[in-house]
Amino acid sequence: MQLTNHLDHDYLRQALEHDVRTGLASTPKWLPPKWFYDAAGSDLFSQITRLPEYYPTRRELAILRERAADVAARCGADNLVELGSGTSEKTVLLLDALAPRTYTPVDVDAVTLGEAAERLTARYPGLVVEPVCADFEQHLALLPRTGRRMVAFLGGTIGNLAPAAREVFLKELRSTLRPGETLLLGADLVKDTGRLVAAYDDAAGVTAAFNRNVLRVIDRELDADFDPDAFDHVAIYDERHDWIEMRLRATRAMDVRVRALGLAVSFAAGEEMRTEISAKFTREGLTAELVAAGFTVDRWYTDPAGDFSLVLARV
Ligand SMILES: C[S@@+](CC[C@H](N)C(=O)[O-])C[C@H]1O[C@@H](n2cnc3c(N)ncnc32)[C@H](O)[C@@H]1O
Repeated sequence: MQLTNHLDHDYLRQALEHDVRTGLASTPKWLPPKWFYDAAGSDLFSQITRLPEYYPTRRELAILRERAADVAARCGADNLVELGSGTSEKTVLLLDALAPRTYTPVDVDAVTLGEAAERLTARYPGLVVEPVCADFEQHLALLPRTGRRMVAFLGGTIGNLAPAAREVFLKELRSTLRPGETLLLGADLVKDTGRLVAAYDDAAGVTAAFNRNVLRVIDRELDADFDPDAFDHVAIYDERHDWIEMRLRATRAMDVRVRALGLAVSFAAGEEMRTEISAKFTREGLTAELVAAGFTVDRWYTDPAGDFSLVLARV
């Protein structure tokens, strides 16, 4: 098993520097969610998926258990490419049903990616596992084109992209696929606001630790002096946009230095910085976005409660 890395240290460093400079100079301040995911962030996300409040993983697993065989029969893929694969825990259901020749997990977190690839290589001796460390917003055109591919994008991660970025992403993904290839997209659905907020603000505080992890990453990588404990975790539902917003709220006025960038950033007491959006979809809305990007929706699977959806789309 050989890991292909499109995110060498210099690339990652430049991208982080760019995002931190841009986000911290904006009003209101923001940071993109991909920087949550160092090894500690991926581990915290795994813990989130097991929390009682976090229904998306359980719902998506239930759909996969029920429908993976149907997905496999319809897509006939022999290369399963998974974007934002993380620990690849749910993927085994697809691998069992599909029995592909090749599995290509793609993630920004090289450590978690490598561990998942090793675990799956040991579990499926006949499977060729070709992990790719890459940014799915930058490197879709560089992904391997071996065999007939199904691209899985699970976990509702599509919702972390703002509408304009989502449009670009879906169009780019569409343009890399050949006739007969498919997309399996996991998307969280609009529902009761109380349940949505609870899923991003759990009682045990794991999501809060995950949210603050972005500050630890910036402290370590860019020699900054954020005090993560001086920021409160905030999760709100924006009904106008139908998305959850995670923010970090400064508990006091403070000046933060990002030494590697020669940057000094002031926070007012109570100032909020956006760290993630997680869009929630309707069937009509998501179908329209997929069609606008050039996909045809083949199957729309959901759980009995109608909480989460898996969409099988083709080009
Ligand atoms: C919400 S988690 C979902 C993980 C897993 N697919 C699941 O369903 O449980 C998002 C995953 O996408 C990865 N990720 C986030 N932004 C990314 C990007 N721009 N390019 C590649 N991977 C990214 C993270 O490292 C993380 O593993």
